[in-house]
Amino acid sequence: MKDVGDDSFYYFPARIWLDTEGNPIQAHGGGILYDDRSDMYYWYGEYKDGPTYQAHKDGPARVDIIGVGCYSSKDLWTWKNEGLVLAAEEKNETHDLHKSNVLERPKVIYNERTGKYVMWMHIDDANYTKASVGIAISDYPTGPFDYLYSKRPHGFESRDMTIFRDDDGVAYLIYSSEDNSELHIGPLTDDYLDVTNVMRQILIKQHREAPALFKHEGTYYMVTSGCTGWAPNEAMVHAADSIMGPWETMGNPCIGGNKMFRLTTFFAQSTFVVPLPGLPGFFIFMADRWNPPDLRDSRYVWLPLVVGGAADLPFEYSFGFPLWSRVSIYWHRKWKLPDVWKG
Ligand code: GAL
Repeated sequence: MKDVGDDSFYYFPARIWLDTEGNPIQAHGGGILYDDRSDMYYWYGEYKDGPTYQAHKDGPARVDIIGVGCYSSKDLWTWKNEGLVLAAEEKNETHDLHKSNVLERPKVIYNERTGKYVMWMHIDDANYTKASVGIAISDYPTGPFDYLYSKRPHGFESRDMTIFRDDDGVAYLIYSSEDNSELHIGPLTDDYLDVTNVMRQILIKQHREAPALFKHEGTYYMVTSGCTGWAPNEAMVHAADSIMGPWETMGNPCIGGNKMFRLTTFFAQSTFVVPLPGLPGFFIFMADRWNPPDLRDSRYVWLPLVVGGAADLPFEYSFGFPLWSRVSIYWHRKWKLPDVWKG
């Protein structure tokens, strides 16, 4: 790489991304917490720096659980490795975090009532039959997190999942269920350590996974992928006036590149959408370009996501239909946030 200085603050989707020590970032299927108390961003994800293999001849490629990686940043570009904040269990084979199991898509939110950082993740066995969520807590964003337990939320299978903390402090779990044919959504308890018994089935028979939720001007949006394992497929964006639904599918938000890029979400799969409070309507779309022969070398695809824009000037009269703003994710080989993004 020549003249690294010139590339500062530029995102290069799917290029190897190094932390401040010069090592490739290991935070796959991840999500970002903005922590007010330290004015820092924390990126949590699957630490997959181990060999890829198949547990069974027809099973998906896998890497043993190593743990959840955490990186900190002030600028969303320079990432310092904070180490494994939740580590695999090496010996006890009955433990959820035993390395032979599956830990995917960890997400962390902060609970103001309890002062705890709460992590939710997909917990599974190598065959993906356990289909559960796991919960861990810590006093610090950089851990260590104490693993509490796993369960099937509301008594249902739960595979790809995310959590979302709304402005009013209520947090929600969203997960693929019923053989990934639908998503379920429901509020967490006040301490964020469990689900309540309130749940809605959404996007029924739409077969969506990898949910990434965000909110703009009182409307909820969600990007999802189809269900094709590590292989990329077409993203969809959904919108709702109420987080509990109904959710409406709006179509494929990917713009630019070429047709193959748009039909494969730029060869990647959604994992999170980062709000940028200084730039209303502007978000970072985070996706994983999985590399099944060598999963540790899966790459990050971060792209600008925009809600609204000139094409969506509201009609004077909406005929009773909701007027969702258009959501667009724009391909760029190289891009950076405008200097004013912190507001
Ligand atoms: C995908 C899922 C990933 C991982 C993979 C395993 O469908 O989004 O998180 O579980 O399958 O094949």
